[in-house]
Amino acid sequence: MNKKEIHSDYKKKIDKFKEYNKAYFEDSNPKVSDKNYDDLKKKILELEKNYKFLESKDSPSNVIGHKPSKNFSKSLHKVPMLSLGNAFSKEDLVNFEKKISNFLSLRKNVEIYYSTEPKIDGISASLTYKKGKFYKGLSRGDGKEGEDITENLATINDIPKIILSNDFPNEIDIRGEVFIQNSDFTNLREKFANPRNAASGSLRQKDPKDTKKIPLKFIAYTFGYEKGLLVNNQFEYLKKLSEWGFKTNPLNKLISGVSNLIKNYNEVEKKRSNLDFDIDGIVYKVNDFSMQKRLGNVANAPRWAIAHKFSSNKAISKILDIEIQIGRTGALTPVAKIKPINIGGVIVSNATLHNEDEINRKDIRVGDTAVIERAGDVIPHILSVDIKKRIKNSSRFIFPKNCPSCGSKTIKEFNKVTKKIDAVRRCSSKDYYCDKISIEKLKHFVSKEAFNIDGFGKKIVEGFWKKKLIKFPHDIFKLEYNKIEKLEGWGKLSVENLKYSINQKKQISLERFIYSLGIRHIGLENAKLLSKHFISFSNFKNLSQSNKYDDLINLDGIGETQINSIKIFFSNYLNIKILDELEKVLTVNNVTVTKSNGILKNKSFLVTGKLNGISRAEVKSLIEENSGTTVSSVTNKLNYLIIGDKPTKRKVESAKQLKIKIIDQAEFLKMLNKTS
Ligand code: IVH
Repeated sequence: MNKKEIHSDYKKKIDKFKEYNKAYFEDSNPKVSDKNYDDLKKKILELEKNYKFLESKDSPSNVIGHKPSKNFSKSLHKVPMLSLGNAFSKEDLVNFEKKISNFLSLRKNVEIYYSTEPKIDGISASLTYKKGKFYKGLSRGDGKEGEDITENLATINDIPKIILSNDFPNEIDIRGEVFIQNSDFTNLREKFANPRNAASGSLRQKDPKDTKKIPLKFIAYTFGYEKGLLVNNQFEYLKKLSEWGFKTNPLNKLISGVSNLIKNYNEVEKKRSNLDFDIDGIVYKVNDFSMQKRLGNVANAPRWAIAHKFSSNKAISKILDIEIQIGRTGALTPVAKIKPINIGGVIVSNATLHNEDEINRKDIRVGDTAVIERAGDVIPHILSVDIKKRIKNSSRFIFPKNCPSCGSKTIKEFNKVTKKIDAVRRCSSKDYYCDKISIEKLKHFVSKEAFNIDGFGKKIVEGFWKKKLIKFPHDIFKLEYNKIEKLEGWGKLSVENLKYSINQKKQISLERFIYSLGIRHIGLENAKLLSKHFISFSNFKNLSQSNKYDDLINLDGIGETQINSIKIFFSNYLNIKILDELEKVLTVNNVTVTKSNGILKNKSFLVTGKLNGISRAEVKSLIEENSGTTVSSVTNKLNYLIIGDKPTKRKVESAKQLKIKIIDQAEFLKMLNKTS
């Protein structure tokens, strides 16, 4: 067989493997016997071994330890399993604390205490106990729904099966990390790339007996749903966990003040290499549960916790070339192509150079010998270059003044908020007039948090674009499937699957829809705010005619930067056309305002002036939690004007004229049966 034939044979096998996986894992309808499945897997792995040029993200070599090896049933987490935001520097920690303090409107001298817990790099699990008995164990899954791996978890010695303590809650989800100690991993090195993969792989064994063979450990650190938990802070909870028989991390501490957090961070980092388990940072959690509750979550991470990541692994390699990538918002990002090198178990061949200023500041040149750093899941970057090792006739890198894709001028914008010129240079083309921007926008459109079209990944977007099958988002819903079927790597079945995934996504929430448009500065949170404001697709689209941009300033979280960006979006005729076309092929669901029967049902509020000990953001979320609404101006629709310190006179006057109830902070809190 020549190279082409080998490729094609390999591709066919991978497609088959994917098809079998889908049938087994997603449709619960296996197409072949276990033996045939295993044989195919073996053949693919053999091909890869013999022909090093073969690779595929769908290869069994890439899914080892990730894909469930049996069809575990799925189960919803009663309380979602959140993820954590990251901090890398002192500055990030100062900001984290500042945000908390602002949200809670704390006085300057109030110290916030944190439970600090080394972050073990394993697999999180949620263990439900009912009446003291281990009842069910779930993997994290997507945070909302996990796999039922009860039997496998039950093989772990560190997981108590019966807890008799009187103060153990009637029902509770105990959450923590399943991991393998480094000393135990030594024997598994052949089979798995790292301890984390080994833990994940063995947790998902078909037969719990196989899980039992691998010495998994469990450390507990938080909880989900609970009924009858009698503690009011995290550190006390950790203490209770060990009284109840769970292992907790011996390096957990209670600390206040950013400088003390950093002192502890440095101390733990020094101990890191001597520990028998991998940690990749320290988790800080606001200790007090009532504060945690008030702070709540942003997107899928709590406001009250953050992971302070350890700085990474470093390595030295050579810069072979500097390429310019163009992002969805037109940002030109320089990327160093480096001589491939293993950094902490991962082969790195690309490193980001961030932006033009960074290249100039560090005088990074093609041919340089550089220190490359890889921290956590973040894209590796160039830390510094060794000038002594520089080749003689190297020259400074000149950043392109024209977009390498469409040739338009590249510009650096003036940021009105920071009053500085942006470090990032951008293509000045409007969205879909630059090919590269278009491709990136399409990738965003189909991505997980947007339309989430199964099997429509980045590679497929690029492939379809090249074949001129898609140019604009609506093209995705009008694909010529008969043409795709004839393309290399596609067949009847894979096209059917694609068609099915696309058709399934023809109904979408307004929130996801707005997010998917990829408007600059409109991320998930802002898309949610906008969707709640507009309620329907047509209201959103009409913005270009109604021009009611100024109303948006009243949405907490939307500022001038975002409004400007939305204006720019609607000023592009092509975007309106795309909205029109999408309207024809999609059903965008209206936002249903779930007016539950809270205490403030049918009551609207407006705050004016500074409140004491509580921020506007918190008042707003309190009102919404209790089914009330907040409005942005005094009209006869307003029920209550809450006044704080130095209220706007005009608002108070109009409220008086309209005979609207004017209340102060204490009266407002009383309505919620709270005291200030
Ligand atoms: S708390 C509510 N505590 O980190 C916050 N997580 O990025 C989420 N992790 O999925 C969990 N050690 O796998 C928490 N002491 C600790 C942790 C910890 C490790 C992992 C966990 C989670 C991920 C969040």
